[in-house]
Amino acid sequence: MHVILLGSAAGGGVPQWNCGCANCRAARERGAGRTQSSVAVSADGERWLLLNASPDLRHQINAHRALWPRASRASPVRAVVCTDGEIDHTLGLMLLRESASRVPVYAPAAVVSLLGAEWPLIRVLASYTGVEPRELPDGRPTALADSAGAPLGITCTAVALARRPPRYARAAAPAVFDVALRLVDDRSGGVLAYAPTAAAVDGAVASVARAADLLLFDGTFWSDGELRAAGVDAPAAREMGHLPVGGPGGGLDALPRLGAKRTVLVHVNNTNPMLGEDSAERRQVEAAGLEVGDDGMEFEL
Ligand code: MLT
Ligand code: MN
Ligand code: ZN
Repeated sequence: MHVILLGSAAGGGVPQWNCGCANCRAARERGAGRTQSSVAVSADGERWLLLNASPDLRHQINAHRALWPRASRASPVRAVVCTDGEIDHTLGLMLLRESASRVPVYAPAAVVSLLGAEWPLIRVLASYTGVEPRELPDGRPTALADSAGAPLGITCTAVALARRPPRYARAAAPAVFDVALRLVDDRSGGVLAYAPTAAAVDGAVASVARAADLLLFDGTFWSDGELRAAGVDAPAAREMGHLPVGGPGGGLDALPRLGAKRTVLVHVNNTNPMLGEDSAERRQVEAAGLEVGDDGMEFEL
């Protein structure tokens, strides 16, 4: 399985348009930013799946030859899997509106319903070529397929994570609004575990990460009070559904025990001090045997 980390940043990216923090200033000065959270996956190197559709999708496709169209209106992007209905993971669906055929979008049932109602992407896109929502059942392996039903050679199991509905749908009835994914290459047996938003390293995360070749995990915040310390009027990281990387009981404590061969932190917020390559936090990540994800990282599983 070929895996490209298209975007390693959380919502807002790095630099974020309205942020002048040290990380955002450094990214502007160096001209080296990070785009918003998304991953591309392919079993055959020809037909690709997007894991989440970022607002930076157009730039991300342009940055990777493997995702360039082979002919007029012939994109190698064959389907999208959404782990949640957050804006930073779904807005990119709008950018696929020129598609020549309906784009299959796999997502948990409650997310499909959000995208038809509170955040009506599916309804709006219906006036263009449209997307074809396909519900991911909880815990049952699904063979992913393109719009014509041809298998893509990857089997996906979605496992429910405990997180609140997105901010735009706080009143929604309780349901599964976030999942972690376990993607298996049917031929090589390579396993990718993907959990870009997770409030805990719990049984659900352990089940997708078990013996995985690669775990891409939530690295949004270093500490619980990080956003507030940066002057943003916001809840703590855990309240937002993001397990902090550092501190007691944080990701650095729990992730190495899961047994994934390689663990890379993704969905990193622009306030996270581990973005600094010479920071003490970056050294702690490396000492724990983990890595900070970067745009364009590629993996073969
Ligand atoms: C999240 O990752 O928690 C969301 O994307 C936050 C948001 O942008 O509202
Ligand atoms: Mn997010
Ligand atoms: Zn910033």
